[in-house]
Amino acid sequence: MLDQMEATRGELMKLVDSAADLAALESVRVAALGKKGRVTQLMQGLKDIAPETRREAGQALNRLKDEIEAALTKRKESLGEAALDARLKTETADLTLPVRPGGLGRLHPISQTIEELVQIFGAMGFSVAEGPDIDDDFHNFGALNFGEDHPARQMHDTFYLPPKPDGMPMVLRTHTSTVQIRTMMKVKPPIRIIVPGRTFRSDSDATHSPMFHQVEGLVIDETTHMGHLKGCLIDFCRAFFQVDDLPVRFRPSYFPFTEPSVEVDIGCSRKGGELKLGSGGDWLEILGCGMVHPNVIRNCGLDPTRYQGFAFGMGIDRIAMLKYAIPDLRPFFDADLRWLKHYGFVPLDPPSLAGGLSR
Ligand code: DAH
Repeated sequence: MLDQMEATRGELMKLVDSAADLAALESVRVAALGKKGRVTQLMQGLKDIAPETRREAGQALNRLKDEIEAALTKRKESLGEAALDARLKTETADLTLPVRPGGLGRLHPISQTIEELVQIFGAMGFSVAEGPDIDDDFHNFGALNFGEDHPARQMHDTFYLPPKPDGMPMVLRTHTSTVQIRTMMKVKPPIRIIVPGRTFRSDSDATHSPMFHQVEGLVIDETTHMGHLKGCLIDFCRAFFQVDDLPVRFRPSYFPFTEPSVEVDIGCSRKGGELKLGSGGDWLEILGCGMVHPNVIRNCGLDPTRYQGFAFGMGIDRIAMLKYAIPDLRPFFDADLRWLKHYGFVPLDPPSLAGGLSR
């Protein structure tokens, strides 16, 4: 029996060493240790040998089994390394190839439009500020000079949330003007910010969604006047809509937080039922603005005899629809990939004033 074991050992070791790949090694393992393998058969033969030598033979067989297992493991490791080396040598990736933007998806028109706003106002020296979607009545209305029973509160179709423990009503912010207050209470002028963000009103049809986007602008210092407001917004409209001689008109209006208050229209033509931006004799309202009301400046702890400035607010979704001729607002929020493929933007082509704002 011991001689037989020695012979088996030599043969199996040779087979292990000569296995050329992992599949061949696996057949060697089965031939040695499998159910009908050579070592397994020797083990089964133990019951037929004389009881005096059985114990010794059993121990020798166990050693043989361990040795073969160790040899298999070792060979498996070196074959694995060799296989990996071979793959590394043959499967190369050329990192200098251009990226295929098709695989990267598309940028949503709202993301694209926000990026364009940041580029245009960034070049004028504005930075981006943000505030929470859920805010209190003070930031959304009170500090913005909406009196307790001010009718303008009703204009906003506000979503109310449970009040704070002190009774202060909480709301989903109805406009980004909340961040005017947050900024003026925190930052010492000069202030020059834009605030792109989500806003909420209980309203829904082809051009209104309960969640929509606005961008707010705020400039506060000691000398800014209405002329600056006009220059800033005329430049913005022409840069954003990419029409150099776009007519821009300022029309008196009313907001509680500005005095005087103004609405801005851009020139367009509606001939033949088709809307075309530019000179055409018709007008389209695109934003509200004005000189920040002294009460608002005072409500934020600043001295209105020293500080002054202007603010503006507009709907991001609305100007995106106008610029990119998107007729319906609802699919903006449907996450329909076919829509996104059609109206979305190539993500590796970010807007810049030098390189072009879009397409
Ligand atoms: N908050 C206004 C709205 O949602 C928009 C607006 C108008 C913002 C005039 C302003 C502004 O900052 O000066 O209807």
